[in-house]
This record gives sequence, structure tokens and C-alpha cells, in this order.
Amino acid sequence: MAQLAEVPKVRLSGGLEICRLLNGMWQVSGSHGPVDPGKAVTAMQDYVAAGLTSFDMADIYGPAEEIFGNFCSQLKSAVPTPVVQGLTKWVPRAGAMDRKVVEKAIQRSMSRMQVERLDCVQLNWWNYDDKRYLEALGHLSDLQQEGVIREVSVTNFDTMCLEEIASKGIRISSNQVQYSLIDRRPAAKMEKFCLANDIQLLTYGTLGGGLITERFLGLEEPKSRRQLTTASLSKYKEMVDAWGSWALFQELLSTLDAVARRRGCSIANVATKYVLDQPAVGGVIVGCRLGVEGAEHIQDTLRSCGLQLAAEDLRDIDRVLDRAHDLALAIGDCGDELRSPRK
Ligand SMILES: NC(=O)c1ccc[n+]([C@@H]2O[C@H](COP(=O)([O-])OP(=O)(O)OC[C@H]3O[C@@H](n4cnc5c(N)ncnc54)[C@H](OP(=O)(O)O)[C@@H]3O)[C@@H](O)[C@H]2O)c1
Repeated sequence: MAQLAEVPKVRLSGGLEICRLLNGMWQVSGSHGPVDPGKAVTAMQDYVAAGLTSFDMADIYGPAEEIFGNFCSQLKSAVPTPVVQGLTKWVPRAGAMDRKVVEKAIQRSMSRMQVERLDCVQLNWWNYDDKRYLEALGHLSDLQQEGVIREVSVTNFDTMCLEEIASKGIRISSNQVQYSLIDRRPAAKMEKFCLANDIQLLTYGTLGGGLITERFLGLEEPKSRRQLTTASLSKYKEMVDAWGSWALFQELLSTLDAVARRRGCSIANVATKYVLDQPAVGGVIVGCRLGVEGAEHIQDTLRSCGLQLAAEDLRDIDRVLDRAHDLALAIGDCGDELRSPRK
């Protein structure tokens, strides 16, 4: 039986220590079903009490930053005050990227999150032909120097952009990318660059929004929106379609189930640990439908920490993965599915 171990930590290059298993808050945005902000705040206490103290959110995830802020404000009266980490994203629309624009966005997140400085800001950018991401990152770096932001990071950036950013002398701490047993694109190019430049990969989609769990083992292929009940399930079902057939996906789930039984854990644990063990991966973000009955997986998530995958486990998994399409060839680098090719 996989043991419950302490949640492992990783230090980002700006000095912030975060859990290698992070709690993802896209699930409170509204696109994963109704959210009760009060219940979500209460649920966050259980995650922190279990040692899962790092939360990932974004300015565009509905009330996520406010929920985090309400939680932080409640924490202030606790003795001793638990230390939590709030990693947010800034997802600007195309437009001017002068200092004022950047400051305004940062101030908005600080005020919603009820913090005096931001632990980590991850910039998202939609169009690489518009080079103003360099300007935005330059201002974020200045704000980091001034102590307003602890870590300057990005999300969904490809390797070519990371090289360009580094060549301008801008230092980033992490890149948040999709990484799972289905989507192993970061291993193609991204990983090597990150290892050489002290950039941590923070991964999402690692459980395919719940597809890579016992829940979908042995199920007929879900096709309608009624069966794919959250934005994550729809998003990652498209990835499964690009990766291979539903029949091959079921073979993967059966193999993961056999590994999980051998190790006394769940399919989610195997899928999480597989990604956590990849070079350059600093942390895996596990989406949490905070405050929703039946959607709390804390004890199971913790089991991933003590799990050791053996050579025979990896060999069995690779036998299935080897028969799937290579998404680095089919789609390209990290984030390429989100934007049009460069001109
Ligand atoms: N940067 C980006 O572009 C981007 C994109 C997507 C996500 N993200 C981040 O990554 C986070 C992760 O979200 P995701 O959408 O990628 O989903 P995910 O983490 O792949 O899947 C989350 C879902 O898996 C199920 N689950 C979690 N732990 C489980 C366990 N131990 N056993 C069984 N089922 C389990 C839950 O389903 P139920 O709730 O149904 O139980 C949960 O809602 C987001 O919240 C967000 O912070 C970032």
C-alpha cells in the first residue's frame, strides 16, 4: 500500500517554496458547475490542514482570486497563521503593455487576493506575433525587484519564446503547461531548456480533468456535453482524440489500474506520480472543485507523495504509450493548440 508521506516541496528561483502538489482553482470559475464561494473557502481549510498549501488561480477564473482572498483574511485570525502560497495568472487582452497597465493588473489581483505582495504571477499570451509580452515581462521583473511580486512566471509559452525571453536577460521561474500520460509534449524540447535554465514546469491536465481515473475505466466513449460535464473533461477528451482511439485509452486505463492495484493506490496517483517524476517538473496542479460534495480527493492525492513507480510499472505503461500518436508531432510544442501559427 502506498504510504501517506509529507507533501514534497520545491523552491522556485525567486525563493518561494511551494508544494509539488498544488490545488487548482479553475474548477471554481463556474465552467465546472455551480460554485458556493462560502463552501469553497471552508473546503480550502481542509487542504491546508493536510499540508496542501499551494493554490493556483488566474484573474480570469471567475471568483477564484476573491475566494483565495476571503480564505487569506480568515487565516489571519488563526494562531499560528498557516503559510499558504497563491499563484495567480495574468491573462491580458492585446493592447498597450506600459508600466501603468501592468501595475493596474497586479494591483487588482493583490486587492482581490487580499495580499500585500503576489507570490507568483504567470503571464499568459495569445499571439506571439505581438512581441509586447517582452515589455510586459520587463515590467513584471521590475515589480519583482521592487518586492511587489516574488516570482515572475509564464504559462503555455513554447520553447522558442522561452529562449527569446532568456536572451533578453529576463528571468522566469516557471512555465505552466499541459503534461500528462496523454500529452507528453514538454518532453520533446521544453524540458531540456527548463533544466538548463532553472525553470520549473508546473503541470495541468495531469488527470485529464478526471478522465485518467477509475471513473472512466470500462466506460463507453463519452460524446455529448451531458457526459462531459465540466470544461476540463471536454478539453482533455479532445486531447485523447488527438492521442489515439477510445479503445487505446481504455487499454491505458486498464494498465494504470493494474499498476495501481500492484502499488496499493489509485489510477490518479499513478498518473500524478508519472508526471511528478519527469525531469524539470516542479509540481503537478490537481484541479479541485472546492466545496462540491463528493469532489474532495485530499487523502487520495496525498498518497501520490509516497508512491514509488517501479521499472516494471513504467515498462507496462510505455507499452501502451508507444502505440499512441506523438502529440509533439501532431500539435507541436506546449501551448500550440491555443494559438495560430506564427506568421
Ligand atoms: N494554464 C492553463 O492554461 C491551465 C489550463 C487548465 C488548467 N490549469 C490549472 O490546472 C488546474 C488543474 O485542472 P485541470 O482542468 O487540468 O484538471 P485535472 O487536474 O486534470 O483534473 C481535475 C479533476 O480530476 C478529478 N480528480 C482529482 N483528484 C482525483 C483523485 N485523487 N481521484 C479521482 N479523481 C480525481 C476531479 O474530478 P471531480 O471534481 O469530478 O471529482 C478533478 O476535478 C486548474 O485548476 C488550473 O489551476 C491551467
